[in-house]
Amino acid sequence: MRVAVVTGANRGLGAEWTHQLLEDGWQVYAGYRSELGRLTTLANENLTTHVLDVQSNDSVQLFAENAPLKIDLLVNNAGVADGRWRNLSEIDDEWALEVLDINALGPVRVVKSLYPKMKHNSLTKIAMISSLMASIDDCHMGRSYAYRASKTALNMFTVSMKKEALEDNISFVILHPGWVKTDMGGDRAPVEIPESVTGMRNVLETRTLENTGEFVQFDGELLPW
Ligand SMILES: NC(=O)c1ccc[n+]([C@@H]2O[C@H](COP(=O)([O-])OP(=O)(O)OC[C@H]3O[C@@H](n4cnc5c(N)ncnc54)[C@H](OP(=O)(O)O)[C@@H]3O)[C@@H](O)[C@H]2O)c1
Repeated sequence: MRVAVVTGANRGLGAEWTHQLLEDGWQVYAGYRSELGRLTTLANENLTTHVLDVQSNDSVQLFAENAPLKIDLLVNNAGVADGRWRNLSEIDDEWALEVLDINALGPVRVVKSLYPKMKHNSLTKIAMISSLMASIDDCHMGRSYAYRASKTALNMFTVSMKKEALEDNISFVILHPGWVKTDMGGDRAPVEIPESVTGMRNVLETRTLENTGEFVQFDGELLPW
């Protein structure tokens, strides 16, 4: 049975990833930070849940120790928005650093800790859930300073990691889920959660060692850096 790990799995896109993978016959090891949320409704013999705060090395380490021994897919999904500061003077240093820590370093901590369980003879895929807001080329509106910077850093961490991971049969993809109707995306978002996750899973199907590290939207469109 194929084994997937999903972070931030209690609500939004992470819960939907968990739901769809279980429906498709995967074994899922799901991380939640505070409460089980939608995971309580997904109870299934192939679902295991574990507390995970990607900001804490201890939490990530414990999560990794309890993970299944062989992992085929990691969905690095957990993330936070920033303060929606209207201009430079409103940026809150402490909060900005926290956003960078959670969105950029958090997923790297998870990759690092799970690496020995993802390194095996068959292909492992790692989906880094980024955002179009990471794109420097596409940054026309500005603002969302820390969120943008955190996701741009996540993209660079990923591209920097992809070469060494290639030798270990691990392929990365950097995904933009679209603007999706979740707590983070809000009610005005045009994309529904199931559509976004189905699209991202289709993109994942096309992943190989040859195309590792690409920045791709949920509908398959390649995005500018
Ligand atoms: N929705 C969009 O339009 C959109 C667009 C582009 C990219 N994204 C990205 O897609 C991913 C999922 O977003 P979403 O829309 O589903 O957001 P969401 O509904 O706000 O869910 C965010 C998830 O991340 C978890 N999380 C936050 N901080 C964490 C931490 N320190 N450790 C572990 N888990 C943590 C949350 O857990 P708690 O419940 O404990 O807070 C929650 O499960 C994020 O990386 C986001 O940046 C979303």
